[in-house]
Amino acid sequence: MKSLVSFSMAGLAMAAFLGHALAQEDLVAKRQAMMKDNGAQAGVVVKMIKGEAPFDAAAAKAAMEKIAANAAEIPADFAPGSEGGKALPAVWENFAGFEADAMALKTAAEAAAAAADQGVEALGPAFGAVGQACGTCHQTFRQPS
Ligand code: HEC
Repeated sequence: MKSLVSFSMAGLAMAAFLGHALAQEDLVAKRQAMMKDNGAQAGVVVKMIKGEAPFDAAAAKAAMEKIAANAAEIPADFAPGSEGGKALPAVWENFAGFEADAMALKTAAEAAAAAADQGVEALGPAFGAVGQACGTCHQTFRQPS
C-alpha cells in the first residue's frame, strides 16, 4: 500500500512537471506567432509606404492598432519561467528594460495608428519609429538569426 501511495505521488509530481514544461513550450509558440503577426502587420504598411499597394488609411490604422495590442501582450508572453526560443537570457535578467522596450513599441504603434488618419506622408515617419522600436528590442533581447 505504501509503495502504491508513493508511486501515485511520483505520478502526480511527474504530471506537474510535464504540465509546467508544456506551458512553457506553449508560451514560446504563442509569442513566436504573435511576433510573426507583428511582421505581417508591418508588411501591410511597408507596401503602402513603398507604393506597392494603394494607401488605405483604415487598413494601415488597423495594422498599427494590432501591433499596439500585440505590444501590450509582450510582457505576459515572456513570463518568468518561459525561457527558450530565440529569446536571450537578457530578457529575464533585465525584465524591466524588456518591458520598457515593449511599451516603447506600443507608444510608437499608437502614434502611427493616429498618423494613418493624416495620410501616407504622416504615416511614413511614424511607421519608421515603429520599425526602430522592433529593432531596438531585437538587438538587446533576441538571438541574431
Ligand atoms: C520588447 C522586445 C521586442 C519587441 C518590441 C519586438 N520584438 Fe520581435 N522578438 C522579440 C524576441 C525576444 C523574439 C524571440 C522570441 C522567441 O523565439 O521566443 C522575437 C521574435 C520575432 C520574430 C521571429 C518569430 C519566430 O517565428 O520565431 C519576428 C518576425 C519578430 N520578432 C518581429 C517583430 C516586429 C515586426 C516587431 C515590431 C513591430 C517586433 N518583433 C518587436 C522581442 C521583441
